[in-house]
Amino acid sequence: MSIDDILMHDETIFRDIRVFNPDYVPDKFLHRESQMEALTLCLRPALRGGKLMNAVVVGSCATGKTTAIKKLFEKIEEYSDKIICVYINCQLHTTRYNIFSQIYQKMFGHLPPETGIPVSRIYEKIMKHLKNNDQALMVALDDVDHLFHSKNANKIFYDILRAYEEFEGVRTGLFAVISDIEFRYILDKNVNSIFIPKEIVFNPYTYNEMRDILKERVKAGFYPDVISEEILDEVTEETSSIGDLRVGIDLLGLLGNIAEADASRTIEERHLKTALESSSSISLKNTLENLSEKERTLLELIIESEDQQLIAGNLYKNLNDKKPLSYASFDRLLNKLEFLRLIDIKFTGKGSKGNARVIVLRFHPQEINKCMV
Ligand SMILES: Nc1ncnc2c1ncn2[C@@H]1O[C@H](COP(=O)(O)OP(=O)(O)OP(=O)(O)O)[C@@H](O)[C@H]1O
Ligand SMILES: [Mg+2]
Repeated sequence: MSIDDILMHDETIFRDIRVFNPDYVPDKFLHRESQMEALTLCLRPALRGGKLMNAVVVGSCATGKTTAIKKLFEKIEEYSDKIICVYINCQLHTTRYNIFSQIYQKMFGHLPPETGIPVSRIYEKIMKHLKNNDQALMVALDDVDHLFHSKNANKIFYDILRAYEEFEGVRTGLFAVISDIEFRYILDKNVNSIFIPKEIVFNPYTYNEMRDILKERVKAGFYPDVISEEILDEVTEETSSIGDLRVGIDLLGLLGNIAEADASRTIEERHLKTALESSSSISLKNTLENLSEKERTLLELIIESEDQQLIAGNLYKNLNDKKPLSYASFDRLLNKLEFLRLIDIKFTGKGSKGNARVIVLRFHPQEINKCMV
């Protein structure tokens, strides 16, 4: 096909291709009823002048945390103007100034006018507005672990939660969203005494839940009968083995594109094969690129050892010879590689305390070497 043909060709198997974009918010949010209920209960009292309740929202990647908050905030805003809901992505906004500017923007429709204006002035305007209008403020800090990395968390939590001390009657609340399940947040004593959150857990989806969700995406994204139940099973299988719903959603979009490029009206087994080959090496490449130097060295040692029964203690000795480090640091590196699904750690029940661990590589060494450039 010529470029003109490709651009002009308007036949498509996609009913709505945006359904596979990363920022698409699905109409149907399946299997999260209890979490939505728990989140709503935190806000409900404030509709009648009561306090907001704080929550920590925890769950591994792609378990619907961000979607839940966005859907809830949308709903609340449709329903009442008694609560101002502000969603903040802490990967993008980490300083006090940035965060209070975001809150300000949500309230007044624009960012604070001058640059270099002190945070205290922005803060005061926000709180006075709340007080004068008898509105409550709920702030969701998504991926909040980034605030802890930048050490800004204490002050920001404190500013938000203690507003009532300076501005009498002002009601504020926080949702802290954590996706790194290994991450344990630690707050200063004085913040700890005011931040006593309810914990709302987003468990990983089961195979059947993933299938339901992917099926809904298929219905919204493709015309009927574009994808068979069997191929959907295989896509779910792949998604569930990786444990990340995003992989499945991306894969569906990719399959649609591959089938269209093949001028096919349906998605076939051969398209799935092509998609799997390209997507697995892309995601492996991304993971490897983001490894720290120490994580990389450890992974290289595991590959070099070619040992099917590689004992963690021996691996530590090898690594320590190359780059001296404590056993605890070694342990953290090992857990990180497991978290990234590069290795499996298995307990053998052997060793002096019965806790010897064996390290197993999840990929073929050749595949890793190919992607590690
Ligand atoms: N229950 C669900 N129903 C429909 N789509 C869902 C559901 N849960 C998650 N998704 C979809 O999966 C993707 C990831 O969801 P989301 O961004 O909400 O996850 P998250 O828990 O915030 O992940 P992370 O920890 O990586 O930030 C999105 O495309 C979202 O639309
Ligand atoms: Mg998220």
